[in-house]
Amino acid sequence: MKALMEKAGLALLHNMDPEAAHGMSIRALKAGLAASPGSITSDRLRTQIAGMTLPNPIGLAAGYDKNAEALSALSQGGFGFIEVGAATPRPQPGNPRPRLFRLSEDRAAINRFGFNNEGMEVIADRLARRPRGAVIGLNLGANKDSDDRAGDFARVLARCGPLVDFATVNVSSPNTEKLRDLQGRDALAALLAGVIQTRDALATPLPVFLKIAPDLTPEDLADIAAVAQEAGIDAIIATNTTLDRDGLKSPFKGEAGGLSGQPLFDKSTRVLAQLSTLTDIPLIGVGGAGSAEQAYAKIRAGASAVQLYTALVYGGLTLVAQIARGLDQLLARDGFASVAEAVGTNKKDWL
Ligand SMILES: Cc1cc2nc3c(=O)[nH]c(=O)nc-3n(C[C@H](O)[C@H](O)[C@H](O)COP(=O)(O)O)c2cc1C
Repeated sequence: MKALMEKAGLALLHNMDPEAAHGMSIRALKAGLAASPGSITSDRLRTQIAGMTLPNPIGLAAGYDKNAEALSALSQGGFGFIEVGAATPRPQPGNPRPRLFRLSEDRAAINRFGFNNEGMEVIADRLARRPRGAVIGLNLGANKDSDDRAGDFARVLARCGPLVDFATVNVSSPNTEKLRDLQGRDALAALLAGVIQTRDALATPLPVFLKIAPDLTPEDLADIAAVAQEAGIDAIIATNTTLDRDGLKSPFKGEAGGLSGQPLFDKSTRVLAQLSTLTDIPLIGVGGAGSAEQAYAKIRAGASAVQLYTALVYGGLTLVAQIARGLDQLLARDGFASVAEAVGTNKKDWL
């Protein structure tokens, strides 16, 4: 019944302005109108990353529930883990609208939101009431007008870290001017040192992840892997959205911002595989995953877990359970007793 409602709901949402549709989908979730398969798990799917046990390795990527509004519903949606945010120290409106575009012909999206969010205090209040049992992380961001962007990441971590299971340093959004410069070797080393120091000072230190862009040279990637390892980062999320516009058909392809969805799949999976040759840090694969086969491909390219966002715009929340269950079958088909056994077993195809 809910699957049918979801089909009708998706058709409705696709006739709306994309940002209005996004707001409506959050309200529908809060009203209990979405698929709620509960926890999807099995001995094969249950897996560990950075000391956390996930019921399955399929996660919600950052940027969908920026303000941690729909955690109860999302935690019933079949995800193995959920990342909310990005949260910045102070609330900020983000870039002028329109700033989200649906590229239906390409099963993709372009966004230039620019970290619109209600700020860490409001988000902390919601996280304090988070559902128990779910694995929930927070994407950390910096205010656009901050004169200490590196310090912003540590501030959000200090405030919200005690309320979440992991936190992600996001220096890879293309929509805050000069943010990606923080991926440079020296800037990144300084930023991560501050963040890890803040993490270590918490009563209960939590895993800290680093999220990177797909638009990096092999030299940049090697630098980032070395700096992340040195800093003690617990996992790397590869990747954020791309500035590339190759091969798109949609009339919105010329919009500025970060491209996500199907066209990002190959590029982000190649970055993932390359990274897996450069570091032993666990990796989380994100970018264009929209089927069990694609989630499985990311795992076999080197990911210990997978996140998705844009595919949900086209497939709805029922996709999550389909992907998790399909992944279980693919692992079984190929004789893997666990996700961990499959990690990186086919990276050569992506190098
Ligand atoms: C509308 C939108 C907003 C996003 N906001 C964030 C964000 O705040 N922080 C972040 O790290 N990534 C953000 N992302 C990037 C996603 O988390 C993900 O890395 C990217 O979309 C690629 O995955 P996908 O192809 O499955 O969507 C956003 C993506 C979209 C489409």
